[in-house]
Amino acid sequence: MCGSLSVPGDKSISNRLAMLAALASGTSTISGFLRSEDCLNMLDAVTCLGARYEFSGSHLRITGVGGRFRAPEKVLDMGNSGTGMRLLAGLLAGHPFVSEMTGDASLRSRPMRRIAEPLERMGARVELLGDKGCAPVRITGGQLTGIEYAPPVASAQVKSCVLLAGLFAEGVTTVVEAAPTRDHTERLLTAMGVPVITEGNRVSLRGCGRQGPAFTARSWTVPGDLSSAAFWITAAAAWPGSLVELARVGMNPRRNALLNVLKRMGAAITVVADPDADACESMATIRVEGRALIGTEVGGAEIPDLIDELPLVAVAGALATGRTVIRDAAELRVKESDRIHSVADNLARMGVKVEERPDGLIIEGPVRVRGGVTIDSYGDHRIPMAMSVLAFHADAPVRMADIGCVNKSYPEFWDDLRKVGGHAE
Ligand code: S3P
Repeated sequence: MCGSLSVPGDKSISNRLAMLAALASGTSTISGFLRSEDCLNMLDAVTCLGARYEFSGSHLRITGVGGRFRAPEKVLDMGNSGTGMRLLAGLLAGHPFVSEMTGDASLRSRPMRRIAEPLERMGARVELLGDKGCAPVRITGGQLTGIEYAPPVASAQVKSCVLLAGLFAEGVTTVVEAAPTRDHTERLLTAMGVPVITEGNRVSLRGCGRQGPAFTARSWTVPGDLSSAAFWITAAAAWPGSLVELARVGMNPRRNALLNVLKRMGAAITVVADPDADACESMATIRVEGRALIGTEVGGAEIPDLIDELPLVAVAGALATGRTVIRDAAELRVKESDRIHSVADNLARMGVKVEERPDGLIIEGPVRVRGGVTIDSYGDHRIPMAMSVLAFHADAPVRMADIGCVNKSYPEFWDDLRKVGGHAE
């Protein structure tokens, strides 16, 4: 496979910018905003809270509420977006009204106690109206007080929820992480004038009290999403002779561990910075040359830095020689699907020797990839996209069932697959 691509905008950053620009005074212009289902749901949610938006060419313009959201007149539907629900919950907790968020069946089965607990400690009332601590979520916001909180799981979503609530709190809010997670929220808040102090695993900010932060609108450029680039990076890395170049990809150091893992497996990857003064985070062109890969182990503090790329590590493991072990990744069980199971099931369908563990996977490669099978997406966007990378190597076409979920993060995926030499019909 060969080619150059520019992948769509970063989902985590687009969601965060939509919320923060919606709170600001004036009209922010965002280039590179990810126009996918998750982010459109976020835009609809902030519209119900009083902000306005319009797309104009490749730009998104958001006119913010200038301080405080207004009470929504309906339940906010966050669709499939865990980031949307968990982060917006933090902001809603600081507002003196009752709001309710729901989502699709997958989102309504994901754990929400992890955000309810710290928000209640800060002074909000958070009712989990679904089964066993799940959404719908009803939030009665109010006067919050800063807390020191150590989340039981390493989660940027939980950290961000607490920090965003902390913006509306009296005093200092501190999150103490078990392992560092992606820091997009911290970087954006700092760029908007709220200093966030990170000392080791402790992240703190001083709240602005009930009036909230006074953000001013500005222009932003969203880098390409490394988690979307990751499909092409892995596909090229595991295919000797291939060469792929991906421009303007976000290089948040808490997001790009996949590059190190693939290098460890033998891939040839070079990264050249793409400076852009408007970009909210650093960007780079990633060039990948395919090699014969060898198995590896991933675990511990590396996991949060490639949490969304673990299905691809499993795929790379299936194509590599020897054993690949993924451990300490039980969080995968509560993503858009139970990704340990959905990856293991689909790998097995394609003939891969794979063992499902409580906290990860063991894969023995290399495999002769079996085509003529049907992949089950489990309604989880990253599953059909990851399995497409393996399908490149199959001895016959692979069918993919229920692939609408790909629109959650990467609506152009199938077009880009054709651009690098794949076949999709
Ligand atoms: C995200 C954080 C990660 C990641 C998700 C997006 C974010 O979740 O899996 O796709 O935007 O903060 P956790 O931090 O809960 O692991």
